[in-house]
Amino acid sequence: MNLITRRIKGMQDLLPIDSYKIENIEKVMKEEAKLYGFKLIRTPVLEHTELFERSVGDTSDVVQKEMYTFEDKGGRSVSLRPEGTAGAIRLVLENGLHNKSLPVKVMYIASCYRYEKPQSGRYREFFQFGLEVFGAESSASDAELICAAYSILKRLQIKNLKLEINSIGCKECRKKYNDAIKEYFGNYQSELCDDCKNRLSRNPMRIMDCKNQKCREISSKAPIITDYICGECSEHFEELKSYLNSQNIEYSVNLKIVRGLDYYSKTVFEFICDLDGAPLTICGGGRYDGLSEIIGGPKFPAIGFGMGIERIFAVMEAQNIEFPEPSVPKVFISSLNDEKAKLKAFELCEKLRRVSIYAQVDVMERTVKSQMKYADKIGSLYSMVIGEEEVNSGIAKIKEMKSGKETNINIGEDFVNEFMELELKKYIG
Ligand code: HAM
Repeated sequence: MNLITRRIKGMQDLLPIDSYKIENIEKVMKEEAKLYGFKLIRTPVLEHTELFERSVGDTSDVVQKEMYTFEDKGGRSVSLRPEGTAGAIRLVLENGLHNKSLPVKVMYIASCYRYEKPQSGRYREFFQFGLEVFGAESSASDAELICAAYSILKRLQIKNLKLEINSIGCKECRKKYNDAIKEYFGNYQSELCDDCKNRLSRNPMRIMDCKNQKCREISSKAPIITDYICGECSEHFEELKSYLNSQNIEYSVNLKIVRGLDYYSKTVFEFICDLDGAPLTICGGGRYDGLSEIIGGPKFPAIGFGMGIERIFAVMEAQNIEFPEPSVPKVFISSLNDEKAKLKAFELCEKLRRVSIYAQVDVMERTVKSQMKYADKIGSLYSMVIGEEEVNSGIAKIKEMKSGKETNINIGEDFVNEFMELELKKYIG
């Protein structure tokens, strides 16, 4: 196949056969988030590279290896967003939302770009649904956010869902912890993979996240964060657990969760499902109380999560979860080969659409027989044929496709009303 008719590796097309399913997933996400007070935002796909370097962190894999970075025509370094949080906090700061009433709760659906090795559930372009809360420090805010993620995933009927939580402490706790694991991993320096050798000096906690077998073995005996967490962080974490317990939300504490991005503090969490026999994180998030200051804003706490829409879709398909049926036309209006009839069919169809009724008209200049075949194929509930006779008399026949039952319908002024009455009769007899 010609190069220009092939999509770029790691990028995906969304076909009409799947789009109503994705629409449904996004609808559920937005509806649930609204119940928690989240408002939709949209940020640009391009941001200054430095925003991601400082927020996601220049020791993270995302920034070090995976960003789509280039110079624009003005010689500025810009990057395609690899995730949604950096843009969201930039939006809040730039527009002064943090100076208004708190908390600020925002949601987004954003295409994200990471130059990773494409594989099942891992793409170079993917869509994240994200929620971010700015200004709230309490564990109730962590609990509320996790409840929102949980209720979305439950409403989507995803089965075998695992919630894993951890606390990676505040800046002070992490400094002590980092010193301890630096010393520990330092003893195994020669056995670590090349990436982890590099991580050892720059960000040793990241070694805990490494997928390399040897590194995993070594990190299994590494000091654990819990032993370095201060009283306040520990209390915050215990309170979060009480909230989750009170809502009967099952979770396990996984001390290994450090998350791949640098900005986290205190609570981190992931929702995990199986796909093709392997665990897959479908939602990840946590608190990032220090991020505003890191990118030059005032100090204010924040927490959020990102859900991978493609991953959720893949899991739902694998679990055979049913989606609401896509809508079918109420009526297909076909016309005989006659100019006036064609215009009339077109006009009737538009009239129905103006009152939000899904209707279709022939635009292929097919014969009436093949128009009818098409109406059947697309699942239209009713069909009509308009010819010269119908135009002159102002009356046409409308056929219920399933039963074949035909009724006369006025195609003049009263058309829309009569159509609606016919529909009503069907439901109330
Ligand atoms: P993340 O864990 O890097 O966190 O990504 C969040 C979710 O995006 C993942 O759990 C996964 O479902 C999906 N995802 C990530 N990479 C890919 C990929 N290559 N292909 C398909 N799906 C992917 C963040 O991005 C943070 N911004 C989350 C957050 C928001 N933390 C606080 N607020």
